[in-house]
Amino acid sequence: MQEITLHGSRILVGECAGELLRHLPDRRPIVITNPLVSSLYQGLFPTADVIKIGDGEAYKTLDTIDYIAGRLIEIGADRDSFILGIGGGVVCDVAGFAASIYMRGCPFGFVPTTLLAQVDASVGGKNGVNRGGFKNMLGAFNQPRVVLCDPLFLQTLPAGHYAAGFAEIVKAAMIADGALFEYLRENIDRARARDGKFLERVIRDSILIKARVVAEDERERGNRRLLNLGHTFAHAIEKRAALPHGQAVSVGVCIASRLSLHLGLMTGAEVQRVIELLALLGLPTTTDIPLRDLLAFARADKKKSGDALHLILPVGIGACEARLLSFAQLEELVDKLTE
Ligand SMILES: NC(=O)c1ccc[n+]([C@@H]2O[C@H](COP(=O)([O-])OP(=O)(O)OC[C@H]3O[C@@H](n4cnc5c(N)ncnc54)[C@H](O)[C@@H]3O)[C@@H](O)[C@H]2O)c1
Ligand SMILES: [Zn+2]
Repeated sequence: MQEITLHGSRILVGECAGELLRHLPDRRPIVITNPLVSSLYQGLFPTADVIKIGDGEAYKTLDTIDYIAGRLIEIGADRDSFILGIGGGVVCDVAGFAASIYMRGCPFGFVPTTLLAQVDASVGGKNGVNRGGFKNMLGAFNQPRVVLCDPLFLQTLPAGHYAAGFAEIVKAAMIADGALFEYLRENIDRARARDGKFLERVIRDSILIKARVVAEDERERGNRRLLNLGHTFAHAIEKRAALPHGQAVSVGVCIASRLSLHLGLMTGAEVQRVIELLALLGLPTTTDIPLRDLLAFARADKKKSGDALHLILPVGIGACEARLLSFAQLEELVDKLTE
């Protein structure tokens, strides 16, 4: 078992699901989960009040927050109640937001049960819901007290969701950890076999990278932006091609790498290694959507500043930088990629 601390949050990685209560603050938690996770893992839940929300992104709404608030009032929860989200990124985002505003905030924790939630959604203190088709428009920065990441949960994850988590892991490796990238390449068979010890290591390393970046910039004023590697294009691909987030991030990382090649920040061999690794992990690496169209979409993206875009670009494997590029420069660049 590994322990990482981030802004007062204790993040445990390893076998901990068997004795959840031992790792929680000394209280009877109120569990927020969904019907699927509950049916799979009820046996592991502490004897607790359970609030079930609908499964999927469609339920990441204020209506769900309102429903949870109603149930918390029925249960008699107060500001000292400990709220525990057990599920994927949707459950964690919703549970964290509900806990942040219920009676002006009560303590909360997460047991993330998808790979994406373990390495990304449950770490960093961002929570919230979508509004009117726009993602994460309402929310808060607020750290969970404890996050318990057990690879055990990943055994039941459908293949697509499992691969999606690896897109964020490869992204993290490319931002700050060339050794993690190599480790992934050398252990593809263990990744495919969902080997517990292998997963423990890559989950821990990815969380460490995110924790390091977030510790320096909790509210995304500067370097936290690096975590958006591949995401400018991914958001456009998600909308246009209806690809799941992780799969779109994989394509986005490939596009960013190819842009880096044209800017002299990566070699052709390095870009090839990135594309190969993502493919070996069962992830897509190209899109049929013209890059010009993706760029037009990015222009309307909320992170634009004036007529230029802050793009995160890999510098070799294991480092990245944010570059402010004008749309004119970017159009010229993507045209070169298409040639
Ligand atoms: N707060 C953040 O910093 C942050 C970061 C990244 C992503 N997110 C958010 O996370 C969400 C995506 O998370 P996700 O990919 O986990 O999706 P998800 O929560 O929808 O889970 C995916 C599916 O897997 C099921 N599932 C969960 N655990 C399972 C298990 N152990 N076995 C079998 N099935 C299981 C879920 O019920 C769901 O159907 C998005 O809303 C995204 O915005 C937040
Ligand atoms: Zn992401």
